[in-house]
Amino acid sequence: MTPKQISLVQESWQKVLPIAPQAAAIFYDTLFEMDPALTGLFPNDMVEQGKKLMTMLDTAVKLLNEPDKLIPAVQKLGERHVSYGVKAEHYDTVGAALLKTLATGLGKEFTAPIKKLGQKSIKPSPLP
Ligand code: HEM
Repeated sequence: MTPKQISLVQESWQKVLPIAPQAAAIFYDTLFEMDPALTGLFPNDMVEQGKKLMTMLDTAVKLLNEPDKLIPAVQKLGERHVSYGVKAEHYDTVGAALLKTLATGLGKEFTAPIKKLGQKSIKPSPLP
């Protein structure tokens, strides 16, 4: 990512933060609409889950310009997800649901450069 792209993401994320609980709710509603089978992976309180997701996304966005901290953190997160039963293909659905959430949450502030950035795959590379 270029420094310009990092700033774009960080600035847009600042607009999501004030509506974080709503964004989390839209995200999971969208996700379960796209793939109802995924509800079975989430047995716990979804408000709590939404807080965890938003906190993790906030950390990741803050660390975009510190890859040596970001990469091990998301690697560990990915490893934990394997134990939750998450498969690589689920990341496509989650990515699409996140983009849809941003489009709904940001409205007209969801501009073309941000949309383009989001279309990059978030699928993890296979573990060694
Ligand atoms: C952008 C990528 C993702 C982020 C930032 C993220 C974030 C999180 C966080 C912070 C947790 C709390 C537990 C922990 O820290 O280990 C969690 C749990 C979980 N995530 Fe994700 N996640 C992502 C992708 C996915 C995908 C693709 C799925 C597949 C459906 C998924 C399903 C789950 C499940 C099943 C749990 C455990 C729920 C429970 O046992 O209560 N996540 N996620």
